[in-house]
Amino acid sequence: MATKPNKKNPVVEEILYNGANWNEMEDEFTQSFYEQNLSQFWRPEDISLQPDLNVWHVLSDEMKLAYARNLLVLTFLDTHQGDIGMPVVSRSLDDHFHQRKAVINFMAAMENAVHAKSYSNIFMTYMTTPEIDELFRWGESHKNLQQIMKMIVGYYKELDRFNYLKRFEEFSPNYKELDFNIAQWKAMVASVFLETWLFYSGFYYPLFFYGQGKLMQAGEIINLILRDESIHGLYVGRLAQEIYETFDNETQDQLQEWLYKFLLELYHEQNELVESIYDSVDLSHDVKIFVRYNANKALMNLGFDPYFEQEEVNPVVLNGLNTETKTMDNFSMKGNGYQKMKSEMLKDQDFFFESEKIITFGGKKK
Ligand SMILES: [Fe+2]
Ligand SMILES: [Fe+2]
Repeated sequence: MATKPNKKNPVVEEILYNGANWNEMEDEFTQSFYEQNLSQFWRPEDISLQPDLNVWHVLSDEMKLAYARNLLVLTFLDTHQGDIGMPVVSRSLDDHFHQRKAVINFMAAMENAVHAKSYSNIFMTYMTTPEIDELFRWGESHKNLQQIMKMIVGYYKELDRFNYLKRFEEFSPNYKELDFNIAQWKAMVASVFLETWLFYSGFYYPLFFYGQGKLMQAGEIINLILRDESIHGLYVGRLAQEIYETFDNETQDQLQEWLYKFLLELYHEQNELVESIYDSVDLSHDVKIFVRYNANKALMNLGFDPYFEQEEVNPVVLNGLNTETKTMDNFSMKGNGYQKMKSEMLKDQDFFFESEKIITFGGKKK
């Protein structure tokens, strides 16, 4: 939207603002995604992790380390998806897409505030503070993880720069609409790769345990997270396809070439990352199959053909992925079909306490 500064006050733009009108559909799919996202809402503290401890304490050191390092990789991805990935994609949408922005902003809030926070809850339950500190330092100095972050976040930053140009320097020679659209599409590709593909090498190990009935509470959290990530990847993939269709054939060919090159660069880093985590528990071979399986799914979300041959994924992990057949522990577990908490408005009388009912921390009535 072109804007001009107001002569009397240059900070105030000559622009007409409108509001989100949810009574009209912005398109045929956004309100369905809105409903789905909100109906899936959950909070990290809804799932108690204590029941996992008896299993965690008997795992070998190698297994504990592989498990924790996977969750740390997931933490890094979720943190930056929430801090910059989703917000920058939301900002890049035209001003009138209020509903689309709302859906993406909701997703953005889940990434760090719920998903990353859940991983921290698992760390806090399973590990000591020095172990957690060491784990984070491992991630901060891991070559492949850092490279993956740089590649993904690099495209988010590039779109961030274009968002600024479009908003404030639309008439400068530095700004071309086609370049903006390409940066927007590439950031969405990075987003779908992260959501539908890169997360899954980290999900593999918790699902591997979950499929065998072990560490079920953490596995339940992973299932809730991957249920969220799956609709995030679908939604952003849908928006990316819409943009891709606006490009001419020549641009589409160039972008497709870029897409597969980007895929292979990430695949290289991803494979080394997998080896560094999974070699010690003899699972690298299996995890790489899962990595390829999910790379194909990400490509399909973006409207492209699968790149890798179809292979058989470890049935134990598929069992963990299958959210319809899980067994429920009614004492402590919240399945991913759980009802979210019902709340009611606070009233003035909620704050009146009869003095004899106030109990001190010592358990005695005042
Ligand atoms: Fe997430
Ligand atoms: Fe996500």
